[in-house]
Amino acid sequence: MFETNYDDCWLRYERVDDDELRTSYRQRLSHAYVSEGAPELGAVRAELGRGFEGLLGREPHLWQHPPRSIERFLVIGHPEEMRPISETIDPDEIWTLAEDGYVIRTVEWEEHECTVVTAPSDRGLVYGTFHLLRLLALGEPIDDLDIVEEPANNSRILNHWDNPFRRSVERGYAGQSIFDWERLPDLRERYVDYARLLASLGINGIVPNNVNTGIPSRPTANDAVAERAGWQLLESENLEKVEALASVFRRYGIRTYLSVNYAAPIRLGGLETADPLDPEVQQWWQDKADEVYDVIPDFGGFLVKADSEGQPGPYDYDRSHAEGANVLAEALEPHGGRVWWRAFVYSEHDDRAVQAYETFEPIDGEFHENVTVQIKNGPIDFQQREPISTLFGAMPETDLGCELQLTGEYTGQGVHATYHVPMWKEILEFDTYADGEGTPVKDVLADREGQGIAGVGIVGEDPNWTGNYLLQSNLYGFGRLCWDPDLTAEEITDEWVRQTFGHDETVVETVSDMLLESWDACIDYHTGGLGLMHMMYNGEAALENHYDPAPEEWPEYVGATGDGIGVDRTSSGSGYAAQYRAPLTDLYDDPETCPEELLLFFHHLPWEYELPDGTTVVQRLYDNCFDGVEAVRELRARWNGLEGRVDDRRYRHVAERFDEHVVQAERWRDALCAYFYDHSTVADENGRVPR
Ligand code: GCU
Repeated sequence: MFETNYDDCWLRYERVDDDELRTSYRQRLSHAYVSEGAPELGAVRAELGRGFEGLLGREPHLWQHPPRSIERFLVIGHPEEMRPISETIDPDEIWTLAEDGYVIRTVEWEEHECTVVTAPSDRGLVYGTFHLLRLLALGEPIDDLDIVEEPANNSRILNHWDNPFRRSVERGYAGQSIFDWERLPDLRERYVDYARLLASLGINGIVPNNVNTGIPSRPTANDAVAERAGWQLLESENLEKVEALASVFRRYGIRTYLSVNYAAPIRLGGLETADPLDPEVQQWWQDKADEVYDVIPDFGGFLVKADSEGQPGPYDYDRSHAEGANVLAEALEPHGGRVWWRAFVYSEHDDRAVQAYETFEPIDGEFHENVTVQIKNGPIDFQQREPISTLFGAMPETDLGCELQLTGEYTGQGVHATYHVPMWKEILEFDTYADGEGTPVKDVLADREGQGIAGVGIVGEDPNWTGNYLLQSNLYGFGRLCWDPDLTAEEITDEWVRQTFGHDETVVETVSDMLLESWDACIDYHTGGLGLMHMMYNGEAALENHYDPAPEEWPEYVGATGDGIGVDRTSSGSGYAAQYRAPLTDLYDDPETCPEELLLFFHHLPWEYELPDGTTVVQRLYDNCFDGVEAVRELRARWNGLEGRVDDRRYRHVAERFDEHVVQAERWRDALCAYFYDHSTVADENGRVPR
């Protein structure tokens, strides 16, 4: 069970340096009266032990009753179980909190002063405990606490694109999958540590297998032999493995879901069809759901990629996505499970941007109430910057989930230090006008119980978990934003850096600024910054890449011709702009009002179209590409300036990645600029682009 050769990420629990602070923490927390019983409380105790040992130099003394002779102590539990809580906090305040909420409060009880962590659920106690530990790791005072927390989003789920049995990870850049299905139900310590990382952020669901359940959907040479795949996890003999994994995550308040294959009734059940309106198919799903819940009583539900990129779905039987999803939903409903049905589909329309809306908007209101339609943040595919998906403003009768990508499929993979939090803030703050002005995506999502945020995972077997140490920040930031989308990017970043690298102000400031600036740089050298996208190399099916530049490979996404560049997606073009609520349609339809960063997404404009500051489109593209590379060089230089301030191992690892990052940014700049020049034949005013 012991494997300790991997990083602790932000749960390092380094000793609190400041003597005064450490003494005050010790005085208040060294004695802990912690409720017992639920498995989550075991996790709480273990975490206190680990956290205090690191932060304070000693484990807490645990009590099963209030320690009468101790003046100050910590109390963790539910109100009805513990007098220091029930006699100081109105239980109604706790019971009316959202299920995952919690309170951390300093109270006077009899002659004692107690730091109380209480919550309506066991999971809430786990979250509250991690919050308290975070305060200590951040060096915050705890003398007079009064914290009331509730998550903004009910579901906060990680989707792993991990391929069971073979342990490869689709779009994973941090080594093989941490989930070892061959050896399950044998458990690994790493599952526990992963659960701890997630619980510290408030993540409450995981899907451990890829949405592409019918692997190989993109075969590699090795895959030819390997046929065991994600769809098989629903097999009776594999449910025990799923339960073993679920039992680890359950202790940390995390429910386990599975990606399922729409043709499961055929592949697993031996039926002739998977037609959702066929009674035998309906019965099969019900029986399967009953069986799953027998083994995994708190099972979360099914995630489905249907009728997309070769995966089967209801279209095979001329049924709609709603008909397709509802049969699964009905099977899960008696057990409290939910279907997360992905909107990542294609339709007949020439422009991919309009396709998801075209497919899903007409069936708003037709989904069963335990179905959530999971929508990628933008209409294309996790590009460096996309406009926000029109579906967020278009399905008021349906529970919606937003799918974000933590792994950097298009943002430099495991190499480039591209921090996604500023991008996610932009997405969540975007005003959809769904319910008039002032309906940002974050409110659309937070509005209903069956909604939430799902993130495509980033971790793998690498010792640093994420390919590049700095990219751990994307997992951290994702979880924190799911919990509280009102946090600013700056707040989240500061928290992450301090817990990961300590409190040296030079390091905190430098790393924070680097992260916060990295996304802009990434957009510039990957796209030219005016809303172009999808210019990456794809490659043979066996070697899909999405890392190197190849703007000529996808002409329909770029729209470069002799006379101009960009794609006309206005109301009179492909019509994407018209899918937005009224004021947005007008905003995007007019090149004069369309935000510059999305200009060429919505418009095909002459190369020498003048931007408000007098610069032409083609010149701006050149300039941004060059600026992007300069920005990456600057990031590298700033990191290099931290030598000696960050431990050598992490310092060198990241420094090497920055060397590659610079080279790769230059390759993108050169490929893009050459492409712009070839089509426009307009020279760069500064003579940097070869003619
Ligand atoms: C992209 C990605 C695929 C993934 C797909 C999806 O196309 O490149 O690897 O399977 O999105 O989200 O389903």
